[in-house]
Parts: sequence; structure tokens; C-alpha cells
Amino acid sequence: MLNDIQSVLFSQEDLAAMVARLGEQISRDYKGKNLLLVSILKGSVVFMSDIMRSIDIPCRIDFMAVSSYGSGIKSSGSVKIIKDLDLDLQGYDLLIVEDILDSGRTLSSLMEILSTRKPKSIEICTLFDKPERREADVYAKYIGAQVPDAFIVGYGLDYDEKYRNLPFVGILKPEVYENK
Ligand code: IMP
Ligand code: MG
Repeated sequence: MLNDIQSVLFSQEDLAAMVARLGEQISRDYKGKNLLLVSILKGSVVFMSDIMRSIDIPCRIDFMAVSSYGSGIKSSGSVKIIKDLDLDLQGYDLLIVEDILDSGRTLSSLMEILSTRKPKSIEICTLFDKPERREADVYAKYIGAQVPDAFIVGYGLDYDEKYRNLPFVGILKPEVYENK
């Protein structure tokens, strides 16, 4: 598995520092509010499990799965709900927890779908942002770090459902997906 990684972008320590900073910001901004964290499966689970523990105010959690990349490396267009939320969003200050904002198509359709359910507020917290690749107009209030236009894996992020279990984030060697 390590042989497929070109270089390490963020170490475990880098990731922990990012998560701590975001957790502090969120705890401050959502004090006295009705915070609901919604993790978008599966890429954000590792980030979610860390960030929820770096938030020191009461909050609830829920999960949602949507179709995005399939097994390739490009976004497929419109989003399909694979697993919907358990909770009714009315009255919640919804914070969507996502692994990476790339073209922005996934989050922009998701924002549209979820706003119709009348949460009190809705914002995005993404661990990574690839601004160079943006096609849809999406605003993320909380961003862990900006990343270059390269395919990254680890800490929940996958290629073909693999590498999610790497504790750091690295750039995948292009030959891994180019020879497919
Ligand atoms: P978007 O709709 O193009 O913004 O795609 C967002 C989704 O694509 C993310 O939730 C990831 O699942 C996936 N994705 C985008 N870039 C990467 C990457 O560099 N590594 C792993 N997954 C990625
Ligand atoms: Mg993915």
C-alpha cells in the first residue's frame, strides 16, 4: 500500500492540528445553537470521528451517503442519495462534514437538497479544498487546508475504495490510476 504513495502531504500531526483548529472555531461559532453534524459517507468518517471529539459543545450527529466518483477519479455529475439522514432537519444548525471539495458538484447539489428540508442554518466544513478544480459555486465556511490539483488518499479518502485506512494523507502515484 505504501508503495503506491508518491509523497506525504499531511502527517498525522498536521491532521491533528487542523482538526483541533476547526473544532475550536466550530465550538465558538455554534455555542448556544442546535448543532447537527452530518458526515458524508464514506470519505469523511475518519475526519468526522476526530472532529466531533474536538468539539466541546453539545451536538448531534447523522450520516448520509451520496454517489460521487464511483471507482474512477472524476466527478459523475448529479448527486444520488444512497443513504438518507435519520433525523428531520427542521430546527437544526446543520454543519455538513465532507472530506474534500473538488469540482464542488457533490456539495452544491447536496446543499440544494438539504436546504429544502428547512434547517435553521446550513454550512460546510471540509477537510480539504482543491480550489483550482472548482466548477460549481460552493462556499465552505470551515476548511482544513487547500490542496494542489493531485489525487490524494488516506485518512478516509480513497481511490477505488482503497487507502482509506492510511493514517496520513498522501499523493497517489499517477501510474496507479493511469494503468486502469
Ligand atoms: P466533487 O463533486 O468534484 O467536489 O467531488 C467531491 C468528492 O470526490 C469527494 O467527496 C471525494 O469523495 C472525491 N474526491 C475528489 N478529489 C479527491 C481526491 O483527491 N482523493 C480522493 N477522493 C477525491
Ligand atoms: Mg470518494
